[in-house]
Amino acid sequence: MLSRAVSIWVLSALFLVTLLAPIAAASPAPPKLHPTRWQRFRTGTVRPRGWLLQQAKRQANALTSHLPLFWKEIANTSWLGGGADNVGGIHESTPYWLNGAVPLAFQLEDPKLLALVERYIIGILDRQAADGWLGPDTDPSDFWSRYPFILALVQYHEAVSSSALIRKKIFQAALHFFSAVEERLARRVEFNSWSAARAHDLIWAIHYFVDILQSGANTDAHMELGERTRSLLSERLLRLAEQLHVLGIDWHGTWFGNASAFPQAAADHMELGTLTHGVNNAQAVKHGAVWARQGLDGNASFAQSLQAWEILMQYHGQPSGVFSADEHLAGRLPSRGTELCVVVESLWSLALVAQASPDDHQSLDVLDAMESIAFNALPGGISSDFWSHPYLQFANSFQARPNETDHIWANDGPDAAMYGLAPNYECCTSNFHQGYPKFIANLFFEAPSRGELISAIWAPSFINCSVGGGASVELRTDYPFSLNAEYIIHNPEALRLKIRLPEFLRQVAGPTRGLATLKVWLEGRETIVELVDGFLVYDIPAWPLPEPRVAIRLEWAALVQQTATSDGVLLSVGPLRLVADLGEQRVEMRRYAFEAADWDTTTTLEWRRALPPSEVIAFGPIARRLPGATPFAHTTGGCPLVVNATLASISPVTWPTVHGAPGPVPLPVAVHGVVFERRLLLPYGCTSVRIAAFPEADLVDGDRMVV
Ligand SMILES: *[C@@H]1O[C@H](CO)[C@@H](O)[C@H](O)[C@H]1NC(C)=O
Ligand SMILES: *[C@@H]1O[C@H](CO)[C@@H](O)[C@H](O)[C@H]1NC(C)=O
Ligand SMILES: *[C@@H]1O[C@H](CO)[C@@H](O)[C@H](O)[C@H]1NC(C)=O
Ligand SMILES: *[C@@H]1O[C@H](CO)[C@@H](O)[C@H](O)[C@H]1NC(C)=O
Ligand SMILES: *[C@@H]1O[C@H](CO)[C@@H](O)[C@H](O)[C@H]1NC(C)=O
Ligand SMILES: *[C@@H]1O[C@H](CO)[C@@H](O)[C@H](O)[C@H]1NC(C)=O
Repeated sequence: MLSRAVSIWVLSALFLVTLLAPIAAASPAPPKLHPTRWQRFRTGTVRPRGWLLQQAKRQANALTSHLPLFWKEIANTSWLGGGADNVGGIHESTPYWLNGAVPLAFQLEDPKLLALVERYIIGILDRQAADGWLGPDTDPSDFWSRYPFILALVQYHEAVSSSALIRKKIFQAALHFFSAVEERLARRVEFNSWSAARAHDLIWAIHYFVDILQSGANTDAHMELGERTRSLLSERLLRLAEQLHVLGIDWHGTWFGNASAFPQAAADHMELGTLTHGVNNAQAVKHGAVWARQGLDGNASFAQSLQAWEILMQYHGQPSGVFSADEHLAGRLPSRGTELCVVVESLWSLALVAQASPDDHQSLDVLDAMESIAFNALPGGISSDFWSHPYLQFANSFQARPNETDHIWANDGPDAAMYGLAPNYECCTSNFHQGYPKFIANLFFEAPSRGELISAIWAPSFINCSVGGGASVELRTDYPFSLNAEYIIHNPEALRLKIRLPEFLRQVAGPTRGLATLKVWLEGRETIVELVDGFLVYDIPAWPLPEPRVAIRLEWAALVQQTATSDGVLLSVGPLRLVADLGEQRVEMRRYAFEAADWDTTTTLEWRRALPPSEVIAFGPIARRLPGATPFAHTTGGCPLVVNATLASISPVTWPTVHGAPGPVPLPVAVHGVVFERRLLLPYGCTSVRIAAFPEADLVDGDRMVV
């Protein structure tokens, strides 16, 4: 039990004076933030289970816990007074790492990782400058490097129990830092371009603290502040958020909503800069959704975020579920790359957009996009042991080698495709950590005022929630590898469970007719399947017994689906993109420490294969097995799902290479003398290099035999 004296608000007098003085005589009650329609759960509430727990543990036990032991950017970070973590004058490595390591530590309740992140967080807070600035202060206009650190603070703050001393320390430090931001802006310190492009990450964090100040609950030590003080502070923070919004880039007006500005092909020909930069675009997808809480028209703000994602995918979309950006937007050619930072930032932006959707139906496209990224681009862009990654991943490629001097990507260096510790640039080495934790955190949402729990994306997980009188819900499944899922629930009071059906199951027409294959049992009795705005909606009656029960069981079918696009034919099973296995092999080029190394990845199987027309193509049965300890093993033998297919060989003349990569996917071509071959198809995430976009072979008579 903390003594009251210790827990008393310890803001420095100086800080309170700085923060409150100019508005002491100001306006009445501050405006309220609009709540998001769905509430996210605080960090650590949603827990991974099954294969997702295996992934999370693999990540935690690999680079996430080892980087501070050997990688100078974090081991000797300038945030703790060291000489590193200042590449190009930016100090982002340690903040990036904490933004992922903090939620992962709480989701796993991993004592070693918890102790490690606590040491960094406390060490950094103890070095806070007298004026409130956090982190190394080498460039007064570098607001940006602090954003991921503040995001880590938000997650840490919400994850620890309300009586924890560190909660107060974080709260105080964050508010003090915001006053330093305010003070710099008042002095007209330049808000540099990274800071302006990514301003809504900081605004999101400010809103978190405003919510705390404005919440009526008197359960937290912060509430020892008087009501008037809280009101003044939240008004002050909202003004700062507004100022940041105005200083920040108007992503809709200047870019996503401006047809004469936004590039409809690779940005190679344009003046490259803040607007064309891939990671900026990924972060900017949240712009409208974040501002929807404070701006006047939440629906219009949400629509801007939705449009941002749609236009990115329309002109730059890739079979991995994310858009291309080999530093800058790179068009739809499947051989152009996507930076790993774009993958993880897109995932988090979309999670925030989904919560802000004005109705359930409008969340569907956003959740489909999140799911596709999480099950394809994310595992496909990190080695299955979580010790290496390429800076750029590709939908179509046949090698990932060091020093590719003749390369197809436009703006990154010759190591950008190589799997390694920090190929091309170090940002993704520290930023990839947030991918899985943010995905896990956003599998469920709730709408307490309506007594609803929303199961947004299927993946094995567990949650204790407030609805249902404090229900516990386990989602037991091996999805996306399996064909069933169970909700094992203990709910002292009734609750409404809304289950989003993935896109392939919402289809009522077409060859797969997903919905027709779905069977649902409610409390053990098979029930009629009805979709309400793309969701299954069930009122789960209170459960009086101490042991939970299978409240809902679902079973479905998933066939191989073909989708024709302007850039080739795509294959999938459920949300998993299928790619041609190229028999990849890797050779170690350089060892750093522990298992961290750079790799030369090449392939042993011919990549030039086309899909025969649909009346000829033959897929074997889908072979499934339990995901095991390496769910997305990048090996043919280790992957939980494989399919055989009959592929047609095509010649190098038909499909040439371009700068060490497959050229554009040829249009359906008449081919003579085709050789057919049974080849394995694997999920995208089970490969390091692959062919994901196929040409279609238009067979000439006489070629229709399979060998
Ligand atoms: C950190 O800095 C110390 C002192 O300069 C040096 O001895 C050590 O090798 C550095 N550690 C790493 C991981 O670079
Ligand atoms: C739209 O883009 C054009 C071309 O880049 C630019 O000149 C114009 O200022 C932009 N419009 C807005 C509202 O920013
Ligand atoms: C926002 O959209 C929702 C659902 O589409 C609608 O019910 C609501 O009235 C809209 N709000 C405003 C302010 O237009
Ligand atoms: C990279 O490749 C170029 C051209 O093949 C070669 O000259 C250079 O030595 C290579 N660099 C390294 C570090 O291997
Ligand atoms: C969920 O709640 C139960 C009952 O209070 C508790 O025993 C369990 O530790 C909680 N689990 C998590 C992951 O919070
Ligand atoms: C794929 O086809 C090959 C050759 O017909 C066969 O040996 C193999 O068992 C098949 N694998 C699967 C997963 O169907």
